[in-house]
Amino acid sequence: MYEIIDGKAISTEIKEELKVKVAELAEQGIHPCLAVILVGNDPASGVYVNNKKKACEFIGVKSLSYELPEETTEAELLDLIRKLNEDDSVSGILVQLPLPKHINEDAVLLAISPKKDVDGFHPENVGALCIGRSGFVSCTPAGIIQLLKRSNVEIAGKECVIIGRSNIVGKPMSLLMLRENATVTICHSKTKDLKEVTKRADILIVAIGKPKMITAEYVKEGAVVIDVGIHRLEGKKLCGDVDFDDVAPHCSKITPVPGGVGPMTIAMLMNNCVDSVILNG
Ligand code: GUN
Repeated sequence: MYEIIDGKAISTEIKEELKVKVAELAEQGIHPCLAVILVGNDPASGVYVNNKKKACEFIGVKSLSYELPEETTEAELLDLIRKLNEDDSVSGILVQLPLPKHINEDAVLLAISPKKDVDGFHPENVGALCIGRSGFVSCTPAGIIQLLKRSNVEIAGKECVIIGRSNIVGKPMSLLMLRENATVTICHSKTKDLKEVTKRADILIVAIGKPKMITAEYVKEGAVVIDVGIHRLEGKKLCGDVDFDDVAPHCSKITPVPGGVGPMTIAMLMNNCVDSVILNG
């Protein structure tokens, strides 16, 4: 029988812990504050930003919302970031991605002070992760580590296969699993004989962006499977990159979609917000 890793319950547990920490900080007169910037009208981004604001409210972190029109120039956005970098009452800054095409995403991410970079996307934080120094860590991979640890999955010495090499998930995920002493393999669109590689995995982390692509024939009996994908099928039902019904009977543990990795991303963002106020003193 497989066990479902309940991301909703684990994320709530983390947010409850953070709520206590925020209250303790408040007693010392320390108040985290997250500035959230949304440019344009992408409906999915709007939903994500709202969820982030709600999570702030839940744990008692102040959030400032900057909802800018689609035609905002790169210079205007950089100017706002500069002001927020200099504002001592703001501890964290988040620019929701994707940005409109006329704005250079790299320039924007580089402009955010690494000390306020709660997304962990700034090259300085990515570099710190790479060489094992402290810094902000990208929220989705950090959330997956928490899912594994809080579900008592042993990581050290295990074969971990990650499908996907994005800057936000695949690459930082590989570094975090390495930090936890797993043996790590990253697969991508050019990987030959993908099934042969994924079948070696004790822990399989899937971030490909293709609905239900991973079926039972990719998975070793008894593996732990983490599904990062989220897709809306016709008829509005949500699914992941893993064909849950086909794969689950072969797993020891598996994350569902929804209610697996998704809620963890926001919980870890909240964790980074609390850290940001400590870092910015
Ligand atoms: N767009 C999709 N995922 C993310 C994320 O984790 N952070 C930001 N800022 N934008 C996103």
